[in-house]
Amino acid sequence: MFGNTFGRMFRITTCGESYSGGFRKDPAMPRELYGGQMVIVDGVPPGLKITAEIIQEELDKRKPGNSRLSTPRKEADRVFIYSGVMEDNLSTGAPIGMIIPSSDIEDVHIQQHKENRNLVRPGQASYTYYKKYGRYYDWAGAGRASARETAARVAGGAVAKQILDRLGIDVIAYIVESHGIKAAPVTYETAKANYRKNELNCPDLEKAKEMIDDLMMVKAAKDSCGGVVEVIAAGVPAGLGEPVFDKLSAMIAHAMISIGGVKGIEFGDGFKLAAMTGSESNDTPYYDKETGRIRFRTNRAGGLLGGISNGEEIRVRVAAKPTSTILQQQTTVDIAKGTSVEHVFASRSDPTICTRLYPVCEAMMRITLLDAIYMAEGYKKIASVIDPNWEQL
Ligand SMILES: Cc1cc2nc3c(=O)[nH]c(=O)nc-3n(C[C@H](O)[C@H](O)[C@H](O)COP(=O)(O)O)c2cc1C
Repeated sequence: MFGNTFGRMFRITTCGESYSGGFRKDPAMPRELYGGQMVIVDGVPPGLKITAEIIQEELDKRKPGNSRLSTPRKEADRVFIYSGVMEDNLSTGAPIGMIIPSSDIEDVHIQQHKENRNLVRPGQASYTYYKKYGRYYDWAGAGRASARETAARVAGGAVAKQILDRLGIDVIAYIVESHGIKAAPVTYETAKANYRKNELNCPDLEKAKEMIDDLMMVKAAKDSCGGVVEVIAAGVPAGLGEPVFDKLSAMIAHAMISIGGVKGIEFGDGFKLAAMTGSESNDTPYYDKETGRIRFRTNRAGGLLGGISNGEEIRVRVAAKPTSTILQQQTTVDIAKGTSVEHVFASRSDPTICTRLYPVCEAMMRITLLDAIYMAEGYKKIASVIDPNWEQL
């Protein structure tokens, strides 16, 4: 498996599976070391205050069992800092290592997965993991394809947040659509004021009630549904992004699409732009006397032009498919026997992944932005060495 590092200068490397710790229950070892998620964060400057409490604040948004709308799996998602932080909780500049032990890895659940190890789980990654890793593939709770993996991303993103906060860059994500029920469009300010007021993190408080009622019905019917999470990054300076392959838009898409269950991403007005004319879609630039900056009257481009940030807020929407593991009988295949079977997969699943997806989107956006800032600032510094006035026309 090669793709476990994200970022070029500010980087996270993660490892960890869903239940593999359950296979290493050696009483001679502290429980925390059986297994879980790990993240190594590279590119952290020295002198940054990092405590387990600071990281925990972000992890608590993602952890399972938070609400009626999330999986009953009970994971504490407690983070332990392992390296890179010393006196007074200040970073030394060395890689920051963190572990998030899995606590809910009971034999009974592993046994359930073992009984189904030869069955293709519809909508899940079991078939493709089997094709890629053969008889050694991790059949216990989706292994590395499990959303447990996203805990490590959130811990890494929490480190990035500490730096972005100082740069005045705020990233927020919230649900704007669930099972086809759409929230009204919101400004950053309204979203910020309202987004933590319900279990869905949906800033349209009326629509959120409708969404929650609907989700309870979907759950009662032992089914699942998808939705859309919107992410705003406010305070992002113009000039981030490295054309042509590492445009900021491309890096954000990479970050988001790498999250399990995410099937699409839109920037600004996104797919709606396809139906517009040029005169309708262009954002009109103007000179803002107050800030001395060029700004745009509208932001249909979502804060990106040519894949480079234009100084307006970055706004993207991420579409998630319905949770694939449902408590219903489904037709599938027994790989070992080569036969079709009807099966109900024992499930401790989320009726929608959106309730726990938004902190992951925030984390991935933060990591992407900080990485882009490192690149852009390094480049600017060198350009200034060549010509100190390079920024003036
Ligand atoms: C926060 C979060 C929670 C998730 N919860 C579940 C779950 O409970 N059950 C499930 O089958 N998939 C869940 N998923 C989705 C799977 O991780 C994803 O469908 C799987 O890895 C297959 O990848 P794909 O859907 O991108 O093809 C979740 C994803 C995220 C981001």
